[in-house]
Amino acid sequence: MTIIVTGGAGFIGSNFIFHMMDKHPDYRLVCLDALTYAGNLSTLKSVMDKPNFRFVKASIADREAVYQLFEEEHPDIVVNFAAESHVDRSIEDPEIFLQTNIIGTSVLMDACRKYGIQRYHQVSTDEVYGDLPLDRPDLFFTEETPIHTSSPYSSSKAGADLLVLAYHRTYGLPVTISRCSNNYGPYHFPEKLIPLMIANALNDKALPVYGTGENVRDWLYVEDHCKAIDLIIHKGTVGEVYNVGGHNEMTNLDIVKLICKELGKPESLIQFVADRKGHDMRYAIDPTKIHNDLGWLPETKFADGIKKTIQWYLEHKDWWEEIISGEYQNYYEKMYGNRGERK
Ligand SMILES: NC(=O)c1ccc[n+]([C@@H]2O[C@H](COP(=O)([O-])OP(=O)(O)OC[C@H]3O[C@@H](n4cnc5c(N)ncnc54)[C@H](O)[C@@H]3O)[C@@H](O)[C@H]2O)c1
Repeated sequence: MTIIVTGGAGFIGSNFIFHMMDKHPDYRLVCLDALTYAGNLSTLKSVMDKPNFRFVKASIADREAVYQLFEEEHPDIVVNFAAESHVDRSIEDPEIFLQTNIIGTSVLMDACRKYGIQRYHQVSTDEVYGDLPLDRPDLFFTEETPIHTSSPYSSSKAGADLLVLAYHRTYGLPVTISRCSNNYGPYHFPEKLIPLMIANALNDKALPVYGTGENVRDWLYVEDHCKAIDLIIHKGTVGEVYNVGGHNEMTNLDIVKLICKELGKPESLIQFVADRKGHDMRYAIDPTKIHNDLGWLPETKFADGIKKTIQWYLEHKDWWEEIISGEYQNYYEKMYGNRGERK
């Protein structure tokens, strides 16, 4: 069995590669990644020399490179994690999101049609459903919830999802889609909420929280997401969408306070900054379908997962310090200016 994992040098894709290497040691895993600012080859160093692993640097939107890879590998399954994934960056500059997230997805699926495939799996997000009001805790996203996006990022992901379903209906491509809530865990790029706050708190820098910090996200430990995708590509029904979520809703502010507590840092580091444009209020997933159909349930409780994550960042300072000292610093200054510095 050969699986092409796109975006495998990023956060969730790399965790998926480690999971699959461990659970299916007889599989061949081919990582296709453009190594954008978010891709980090050092993340994959533990698997780089394994005989059943190959890394290829190319964009999923590069038709020639993608077709050549399919010609060489004849994959059985493609799991597409590759994406521009940061909402803030999509607000600054939407175009690359359309290029990678939509055009890239269509190029990959064209290759699947041309060379044949057992399964094309699209890794999507709960953000395609838009947001829920804070005063309706009874509401959750189901697979039937209409697509209703807020940011250029979520719109590009929704556009890709619609294309995936269209390729299934029009060309009979054997596809599945998973729409997951916010992930956290090892190798999370330090521009996202949890790793950003851990890194800043460890450096006694201000902890920039958007607006009043009351936005609610549903957090899932990354390993649980990887297990869900493993199940879907093996046992999921072709043409179906599966929501994946942790039933673990927390406000951004509570997350930041918890990180302060775990690291023994004062809450006075928290600094409220101007809210994100079009900021979604609440995401909450109803994962009944994947539980009933495939028996999936999240296994890591948030209290344990956040401790494991903090411990990982403490033990892998070299990984994230290299990132935050490089080009990323310019982006940080642009987004947060000197508000990110502790005065
Ligand atoms: N992080 C989350 O909480 C979350 C939640 C739900 C869904 N998702 C989805 O999961 C996927 C992975 O997210 P992540 O957080 O790991 O992202 P990430 O930004 O950490 O990693 C993205 C990876 O894709 C690569 N990439 C970007 N453009 C590419 C291109 N044109 N061709 C090939 N590779 C390219 C990058 O180099 C990087 O390695 C994305 O599709 C995202 O929409 C993420």
